[in-house]
Amino acid sequence: MEKGARNLKSLKFYVHTFGCQMNKNDSERIAGILSTAGGKISNSPEESDIIIVNTCAVREKAEEKLYSYLGRLATFKKKKKSTIGVVGCVAQLYGSELLEKKPFIDFVLGPDNYNQISEIIHSNHEEKFASTSWSQDYNEIPHEKTFRESNISAYVTIMEGCNNFCSYCIVPFARGREKCRPMQNIIEEIQSLADKGYKEIQLLGQNVNSYKDPDTGKDFSILLKEANQTEGIEWIRFITSHPKNFTKKIATTMKEAEKVCHQLHLPVQSGSSSVLKRMNRGYTREEYLEKITILRNLMPDISFSTDIIAGFPGETEEEFQETLSILEEVRFNNIFSFRYSPRPLTVACQEKDTISFEEKRRRLIEVQDLQKKIQLELNKSLIGRDLKVLCTGKSKKAPHIYSGRNEGHQVVNFKSKNDVIGCFVDVHIASYGPYSLHGEAIKQ
Ligand code: 5AD
Ligand code: SF4
Repeated sequence: MEKGARNLKSLKFYVHTFGCQMNKNDSERIAGILSTAGGKISNSPEESDIIIVNTCAVREKAEEKLYSYLGRLATFKKKKKSTIGVVGCVAQLYGSELLEKKPFIDFVLGPDNYNQISEIIHSNHEEKFASTSWSQDYNEIPHEKTFRESNISAYVTIMEGCNNFCSYCIVPFARGREKCRPMQNIIEEIQSLADKGYKEIQLLGQNVNSYKDPDTGKDFSILLKEANQTEGIEWIRFITSHPKNFTKKIATTMKEAEKVCHQLHLPVQSGSSSVLKRMNRGYTREEYLEKITILRNLMPDISFSTDIIAGFPGETEEEFQETLSILEEVRFNNIFSFRYSPRPLTVACQEKDTISFEEKRRRLIEVQDLQKKIQLELNKSLIGRDLKVLCTGKSKKAPHIYSGRNEGHQVVNFKSKNDVIGCFVDVHIASYGPYSLHGEAIKQ
């Protein structure tokens, strides 16, 4: 062993994740690197020798939560000399500044630098270390190393970064420009997941519709068709789709490739064309609605979800009403809604924000109340139906109840006489809430 090196085999590690599915998959990959090096995964930061915090910068609130979590880690560190690494979007944005401001942090790594983790930890760097460089190509972490949370449904990253520069969004600064993963590596990973018994895959990227194989130029539709050939995988989903890059060709592939779920997360952000323009989204309300119509004509059973930002700078009451009316018009099965939050480096944060915090809050509540009403109506209409559900575990609240999702990605909680975790089950829907459906497994 080199001087200063330590043996990872006796070390426990803990990875705490903030943020999106992409971060969750990155954490699974980081945990894979550490466990391959011999480390033992732990559920408690207090007991761990190595603590990795994977961070999110997309909204102010995520950053605030991070700083309060880091405060707790600073207290542990007084009792136990753990190695603390901060990785992900906040790490990329602030780099070595974080080491100066939070002296209990040992290293900082941006999203393109995770391959360095085991080396840093092995060599027991006495000096603090920040690495936030970008590489030209997609940075492959061998997929065999991924330490997945689920053994039923798996995330598969297909591209990283974003070239869109929506005026409110910090992601292009935190994740860099778009880089696509070679299709051959993606397909190999999907095949190995199928071999391990996974039933569902979720393809991940900030802008999956603009995927292009760096080796052959094959596009996202071709990737979906190839993934569809994988024996053993039964459901394929993907996230996130940008409406401007969502083509008729992709819609047709969704219809034709039988494993691709009839479910789409298509973030609209606002129902007002003038706000969309100021957001630099690259489509109008009408163009967005036209895509929804095309998709519904092709797949009448398709379920949609979206993201909404309430109180974008300068959003007038009339513009806000257009967001409410697009919710009524599309009737999404689910939405993720946020109060506008100014982010450094973005174009929007340089504009004068004339909408008060209270007004933003009011608009957000109005969006959420309307959507709750719509979801109750949609879910009510499913009473008496039998839905195919992929059971992923037991309900957190009631351990005798099983839980999973239907093709539309809605949460379904149900009773079953048999243990059905990891199986597809037909569930007879008997009751509902705004955010979930409830029923009983049909005898098989
Ligand atoms: N303020 C509020 N919401 C934001 N999002 C991204 N940036 C901001 C911001 N500055 C939301 C968008 C995006 C989702 C991931 O987060 O709705 O689709
Ligand atoms: Fe952010 Fe827009 Fe890129 Fe999505 S498409 S990550 S909202 S810049």
